[in-house]
Amino acid sequence: MEIVSDINQLREIRRKWQAAKTSIAFVPTMGNLHDGHLELVKHAKQGADIVVVSIFVNPLQFGPDEDLDAYPRTLEEDSRKLRELGVDLLFLPNNEDIYPRGLEQQTFVEVPGISYMICGASRPGHFRGVATIVCKLFNMVQPNQAYFGEKDFQQLQVIRAMVTDLSMNLSIYGVPTQRSADGLALSSRNHYLSDAERSIAPKLYQEIVKVASAIESGRTDYTKLLTQAKENLAALGFKPDYLEIRCAESLMPPSHEDTSLVILAAAFLGKTRLIDNLQVKLF
Ligand code: PAJ
Repeated sequence: MEIVSDINQLREIRRKWQAAKTSIAFVPTMGNLHDGHLELVKHAKQGADIVVVSIFVNPLQFGPDEDLDAYPRTLEEDSRKLRELGVDLLFLPNNEDIYPRGLEQQTFVEVPGISYMICGASRPGHFRGVATIVCKLFNMVQPNQAYFGEKDFQQLQVIRAMVTDLSMNLSIYGVPTQRSADGLALSSRNHYLSDAERSIAPKLYQEIVKVASAIESGRTDYTKLLTQAKENLAALGFKPDYLEIRCAESLMPPSHEDTSLVILAAAFLGKTRLIDNLQVKLF
């Protein structure tokens, strides 16, 4: 596995791959890799000849009171895991190369509408930061395919919208959420949980599953379902941020014709913000 920080060196290698007509899959990450990230890499390996993974903790997508400095950085372990999986290139850009004119001067990519709702409403500017870095990384790596986790469902839909709107020449693949045996979605932020919080954390997913089962069994009183679920979460010690039932594609409130829904939730447990979601198909 080659490890590259320099953008020009990446472009040089990219040119050689292109000459050999190899297909390139890309998995952007912020590191501290767990089995969720590694699942994306496995899908990428199946989808293309060459797999590129990036690790970059992107300051532009963190709010002023968020955990940018505390975000776990575990490069040695990460590169070992990626090497074991047969990743071809690990791209580790530095801040100065990614944002040469500084964060304030940065040209940005904004995907209106979908970026402002749900998580975007709680974290203003977050999806602008995500779309901007992902667009930049796409320009550097120039992959044929890129893989994103359904764990960050809204992020995946923002990226899909950006690729469509900007006529980007690559395919986006979503990979199902990887979970611990007790149902908790794997996340780098789970490290922040105390032992007591960790034992409560899976109940977020359990509450989402209950809402999904109720919808599947024909319930349509969504407001009541969501209010009850939020009350249950609060009683368990969560501070719910949002809990929504939306159209899976547009993320707008569902209409009667929508058959593909998604339940999206974010809740604080102590200082840790957990997010999760589950898709529901109605036939
Ligand atoms: P990060 O949180 O490191 O996640 C990298 C990728 O791994 C994302 O596509 C995310 O959805 C996926 N992922 C995380 N946990 C997962 C799980 N439990 N199951 C399946 N996939 C999972 O998301 C980001 O980084 C950043 O916003 C990024 C896209 C890299 C832009 O900076």
